[in-house]
Formats: sequence, structure tokens, C-alpha cells
Amino acid sequence: PRNAVRDGSGELTLAGVPVGDLAREYGTPLFVVDEKDFRSRCADMIGAFGQYGRVHYASKAFLSTEIARWVNEEGLCLDVCSGGELAVALHAGFPAERIALHGNNKSSAELAAALDAGVGHIVLDSLTEIDRLDALAGERGAVADVLVRITVGVEAHTHEFIATAHEDQKFGFALSGGVAMDAVRRVFATDNLRLVGLHSHIGSQIFDMDGFELAAHRVLGLLKEIVSEFGVDKTAQLEIIDLGGGLGISYLEEDDPLPVKDVADTLADIVRRESAAVGLPMPTLAVEPGRAIAGPGTVTVYEVGTIKDVELERGAIRRYVSVDGGMSDNIRTVLYQAEYDVRLVSRVSSAPAVVSRVVGKHCESGDVVIKDCWLPGDLRPGDLLAVAATGAYCYSMSSRYNMVMRPPVVAVADGASRLLIRRETIEDFLRLEVSK
Ligand code: LLP
Repeated sequence: PRNAVRDGSGELTLAGVPVGDLAREYGTPLFVVDEKDFRSRCADMIGAFGQYGRVHYASKAFLSTEIARWVNEEGLCLDVCSGGELAVALHAGFPAERIALHGNNKSSAELAAALDAGVGHIVLDSLTEIDRLDALAGERGAVADVLVRITVGVEAHTHEFIATAHEDQKFGFALSGGVAMDAVRRVFATDNLRLVGLHSHIGSQIFDMDGFELAAHRVLGLLKEIVSEFGVDKTAQLEIIDLGGGLGISYLEEDDPLPVKDVADTLADIVRRESAAVGLPMPTLAVEPGRAIAGPGTVTVYEVGTIKDVELERGAIRRYVSVDGGMSDNIRTVLYQAEYDVRLVSRVSSAPAVVSRVVGKHCESGDVVIKDCWLPGDLRPGDLLAVAATGAYCYSMSSRYNMVMRPPVVAVADGASRLLIRRETIEDFLRLEVSK
């Protein structure tokens, strides 16, 4: 087991609110977002990157109308990657000109919605899309600002499902074989698209700087090619170099996130130097953190339901602790073998810790929340467990599997709590059914 808290039990208070009170008021399972933590991570990103350009919060990590408002109030831009995310952001009053649209297969309807809303720019991901967006913009008598997403051929050291810049995959235009350069030519040849920058995203949950640096060098390498083919004047309209998201966060004590300020300074330095070398002014450096903003400040609170000691070979015991949620509110353990820290948070226990497996209530044995962890030996039904750092890609990847209702999301700040998203009800499920 890798969670460090062998005797980390106790009554947890989140932003001044006892977790037991939250569980009583809102029920379990429950996501609790520390509003100040979320906002301060936004502010830290602006503090680090703001002087060089801008920060887009990647809303796929977690979005609600209230979250969009926080992001807006903190002065960040917003990335959306679907019509749904766009609609929620607009509903929240997020200024369209500070929204960017992503996606490898945006539908015509999504592209049209983005144009009609007046989003800041759209990140192009395929030749088909270049033609499609050009036509849609033309029909509207509009010129759309676009970036071209390139796959820079970096193998990010992360889980293969969330690494995105090696070339054998669905995103972007490969640098090799001149594919990306062809895309740039194609955009320049359109009437209704204005190429305003280049984009790269190498993956997610990354802890080493090398991949980001290499990506920056390679993006700037393409900029250099563009200068030599189209000249400095035409290339100068590419004022945005967007290096994507991917900053890793600490799920376990041993995880060691990169200092955001160092990342910003290092990348800005590369972009400045290499742009100057080809006679271009310093472009706007954009980044798109999702996890690093939303992840750390949220916990999931579960109630323990049943406990089962299963005998393994040679007399060893594995303790299965079942909680009232599972893979429907956190698919990451199953999907990426993600690891989390967990603690007993409703009381102090001095019982010796035993190796436990926290499992959900879903009808499959893969439904594991935490594969191996230490939990107090006297754990009992009704105890509350908190799983840390569940703010990114848990609620946003939640499902209705087994018709288990999605948990509510509650924000806490200054000793008070308020509901951001209520718990799903059976009426929500039945509302979608046409034949009742
Ligand atoms: N920009 C682009 C173009 C992206 O595709 C992503 C994430 C981000 C920014 C934000 O990356 P972040 O800063 O959050 O690492 N579901 C997976 C993560 C998938 C990330 C997809 N793209 C997980 O739970 O680990």
C-alpha cells in the first residue's frame, strides 16, 4: 500500500466545516470543493504565466456554472472541448471571446455554435475540419481565428491513455512528414480562417520538465519553417503559442509536482529566444491546466457500508471495505490504475492499521476505489472515509452505471457550505425516458 497515512484518522474539517456535518446535511457519497483552494490555484497560474500570456482552465477536468464563474472572476480564459461544455460556460456568463474550442471531432453544430457565440478561437485538429470551419465561417460572413494543433512526437511519461503527443494517435497534425506544415498552408489558403497560433498538448499528470521543453522547441521549430516559407510579416499573425495542459498533481505523498513558476519561466524563455531568433516578437504564451487547478482541493466523502475479510493463500487476509459510491463517481482507479490517499475522517482511531481495499457498490469486481491502503483495524459501518484530490476527472467522468445517482458537489469556504450540484434523483433518470 502506498498511502502514507497508517494512523491518519481523526475528525476532518474542510474550510472550517466538520465533514460529519457535511455528510449529515448532504448525504454521502459527496464531493467537497474547497473554493479558496480552487481560486488560489487559478491565481497562482496567473501569477506564474500571466506576465507571458494567458491561462485557459481546461474545463473537461471539472465544470459547472459556478466553477465557470470562479474561473472568470480569477481572470482566466476557458477551454471547452464539446458543445456541452461550451453551453454550460455560456450559460454561466463566461465571456465568449475568452473561450477556446478544442476537439478532434467537433460536429458542424458545435463549430457553428462556437462561431455564433463568438468564441476567441478554435483549435483545428484535422483537414476535414479546416474545410468545414472555413465553409461555416463563410456562410456567416465571418472570419474565424484558429490555432493548428500539432503532435510534436514527445512521449510523455504518463499513462498511455492520457499521453497525447506521440504521433500514432488521433489528435492533431504530425510534425513529421510535413503534415502540420500542410495544415498551415491549407489554413492560409482559406478565405475565412485566420491562423493566430499553434497548439500542442503532450499529455496529463506529468512530473518532468523535459517533455514540455521539447514540445516548446518543436512548436517553435514549426514556427521557423512557417517564417521561411511565408515570411516574417505573415507569420507575425501567429501570436499565440499554446503549450496545453498536463501539470501533474500530488495524489500520494511521494508525488512531486513541478513548481508552476519554474515551468512558466522556462517555457517563456524558450519561446522568447526562439521567436527572436527568427525575427518574431514574443508571442503570447498560453497554457491549459485542468487537473492542477481543479484536482487538489476536492475530496470525496464516502460512508463505509460493509467490511469483509477474505482469506487469501497461506492464511493471509484481504480486507474489503465497501463504500456507497465507486466507479461511477471515480473511474480513474479502474481506467488508469490511479492511486489515491484515503483516511478515516469521522473519528479518531488508535487501532493498528490493516491493509485494506476500498471498493464501490457496483456490480463488478473491477469496481475498486483504492486498491491497497492502510485503514484502522477497527473500521466499522457508518464510518466516513475521505479520498483526497478527486476534483479533476472524477465528477466530469462520472456515469449512471447501475443507476446509482451521481453525488452532489458542495463548495466550502469560511466555515460555510453551499450546494453547487445537487444529488441526482430517480426523477432525473426517468425524465429522459420517453415511454413511461
Ligand atoms: N488541453 C488539452 C488540449 C487537453 O486535451 C487536456 C486534457 C488539457 C488541456 C488539460 O490537461 P490537464 O492539465 O488536466 O492535465 N481523464 C484523464 C485526463 C485526460 C486529459 C485529457 N486532456 C485523467 O483522469 O487522468
